[in-house]
Amino acid sequence: MKELIDILKRDRKLLPEEFAALINGMSEEDALYLKEQAFQVKEQFFGNKVFTRGLIEFTNYCKNDCYYCGIRKSNVNAVRYRLTLEDILSCCEEGYGLGFRTFVLQGGEDLRYSDEDIEQICRSIKNKYPDCAITLSIGEKSYESYKRYKEAGADRYLLRHETADEEHYRLLHPESLSLKERKQCLWNLKELGYQVGTGFMVGSPFQTAECIAKDLAFIKELEPAMVGIGPFLPHHDTPFKEYPKGSYELTLRMIAILRLMIPNGLLPATTALGTIHPMGREAGISWGANVVMPNLSPVRVRKKYELYDNKICTGDEAAECRSCLQRRMLTVGHEIVTARGDFIPYTFEA
Ligand code: 5AD
Ligand code: FES
Repeated sequence: MKELIDILKRDRKLLPEEFAALINGMSEEDALYLKEQAFQVKEQFFGNKVFTRGLIEFTNYCKNDCYYCGIRKSNVNAVRYRLTLEDILSCCEEGYGLGFRTFVLQGGEDLRYSDEDIEQICRSIKNKYPDCAITLSIGEKSYESYKRYKEAGADRYLLRHETADEEHYRLLHPESLSLKERKQCLWNLKELGYQVGTGFMVGSPFQTAECIAKDLAFIKELEPAMVGIGPFLPHHDTPFKEYPKGSYELTLRMIAILRLMIPNGLLPATTALGTIHPMGREAGISWGANVVMPNLSPVRVRKKYELYDNKICTGDEAAECRSCLQRRMLTVGHEIVTARGDFIPYTFEA
């Protein structure tokens, strides 16, 4: 296994069967070796600096019905909300004062916001905060729509592929969604010049090591700037409520593998990781992550953006999360920086 880890570090890739072997066959000792290698690469590219993004969850309406997600349209118990442009701008104002230079606008696939609305949101933020980056995370849209958002000032886009295995994709989503379409969106976003983020859940129902190997192969092919992964966590009002949560340890190992694959990549220690374990985000950093994304949404809506049960930070003001994370990062020797934290392309030796 150590040899595979060395090859991964050197070549930044493995064959699918090698990835599967690594995922299935790692001992505790191998995993610690992997962690060391990933941490070293992270240090080499980013030192002890951690980038931060202010997450604004601006709508929890969604036209989709993903079996794992708490804000799926069939969940009649979800209390729905939308933030206005004014709400969003006041989140940004508070965030800017706290040192955030990237705002992530995330929402369900909510048809109430037209392309003009999204453009207006982007333009307004860019106009007020020209030194900030805007990341959109609002799902599958047409090439034309993505183009319009880009021209209105969006810099980055997050769209997790969720799983790169066709059959697995169908087990997680209703027929209205397809892996092919999802991948096409990601390619379109890349072509339009976005810094693109993708990702997947670790331990989603029916996931196998082969599925994860395919995820990694797809990520290699896509060459995203960002990869967000977190454990699957069940939500009590979804068809997957009885399924077990994903593995904390495997999630950390996956972060380390991704760090070796994409040395200059932006890898968040996600909220789901902080939910499955009280020190999950700190551990994420120690295993190679270099981004944290605290919530800037108004506290009155926080609990309503519940993708999974027991989500952390739903009662905390933005300022509390910011100082909490600063302290937490310090416990693992890291420092949150006030910077956009753009992806910097790097040419590796052959
Ligand atoms: N557990 C963990 N992650 C989830 N997501 C959605 N539902 C869950 C869940 N139950 C993730 C998906 C989505 C991102 C916004 O949140 O990967 O892309
Ligand atoms: Fe939100 Fe700690 S990060 S309370």
